[in-house]
Amino acid sequence: MGMLDRIEEMGHERVVVGQDARVGYRGVIAIHDTTLGPAVGGIRFMPYAHPDDALVDALRLSRAMTLKCALAGLAWGGGKSVILGDPRERNRIPILRAHGRLIESLSGLYVGAEDVGTSPEDLEHVRRETSHVAGVLDGTGDPAPATARGVLQAMRAAASRLWDGPALAGRRVAVQGCGSVGSHLVALLVEAGAEVLVTDVDRDRLRGIRERHPVEVVEPEEIYGVACHILAPCALGGVLHDGTIPRLQAEAVVGAANNQLAEDRHDLALKERDILYVPDFVANAGGVIDGHRLAAGWSEEQTAQRVAAIHDMTLAVLRLAEAEDSGTQAAAEVLALQRLRRE
Ligand code: NAI
Repeated sequence: MGMLDRIEEMGHERVVVGQDARVGYRGVIAIHDTTLGPAVGGIRFMPYAHPDDALVDALRLSRAMTLKCALAGLAWGGGKSVILGDPRERNRIPILRAHGRLIESLSGLYVGAEDVGTSPEDLEHVRRETSHVAGVLDGTGDPAPATARGVLQAMRAAASRLWDGPALAGRRVAVQGCGSVGSHLVALLVEAGAEVLVTDVDRDRLRGIRERHPVEVVEPEEIYGVACHILAPCALGGVLHDGTIPRLQAEAVVGAANNQLAEDRHDLALKERDILYVPDFVANAGGVIDGHRLAAGWSEEQTAQRVAAIHDMTLAVLRLAEAEDSGTQAAAEVLALQRLRRE
């Protein structure tokens, strides 16, 4: 399928490509849907094997943002942008500014935020060209703790459907990736009495986690095959595919990583293996809910309640999937699209 057909099929409102050969900049902004408000989404800075892969990433991630914001009841739409290249690029400041100019050209239709490959300091360079940036340094804060709390709520909901209640005490939970979200999640799981297994490709991170918590460490490739109750992908997207799904020994998959399913059909592949999958955009909405706090004028307590409501939203998704005998991702999309159509 050609790219224009793909954009039409996925229903994007607008996709903008920018380039500035003088500084070696190439970037894409994908605006999926602005029915509920401006399209909000991270600015990803990373190398791609092929430029089309960057476009596809922006298309998929922006659509997931639409669904995430709709389900979480936020007045934001779905967007995402990508800067193609190595984020360690020496010329990164002019590149970030060029991306800022592309964002500015959309007059607020898209609001960028921190993402893979971009730091709070990077966003300040983008901000020199546009005010349409949300980030750590403007008081929005680090979304990772709220994301982890939301994932924990989604796990509790999954536990209620699978076992005899929401308690995670004594459950074996395998966390893939101990970065910003994963490390907070490990702390919450240990506090909840879970038996936690962890992996990461970064040995220093693992050492730090091990010093702080009673966790079992497994090799990165082994995580898919470990016997556990819940697997929590908190590293990369695309981890649930034909090579990994047959190896899973988990009863549920609940994690923070965006776009965990390599392809939509893997929703059913998990169902066929009787593995309960909580769609990523349901489980990981805590960060964007927290980010919406300033715009909505919510207190800390109101924000915390909205993050906690991920529990009930997860239950609603799982119940609908059971009633319709569908995949859970398909059920979550139905609920999100219902909210969009009501607007
Ligand atoms: P991060 O970059 O802080 O942490 C990712 C961790 O995964 C790093 O420690 C990295 O070494 C590790 N890792 C990378 N490849 C790995 C592999 N093959 N096996 C094991 N570990 C590996 O990222 P962060 O912020 O914790 O986000 C994690 C995921 O959750 C990402 O996919 C992100 O898009 C998603 N997410 C994050 C949110 C947030 O609030 N930070 C919100 C919603 C989604």
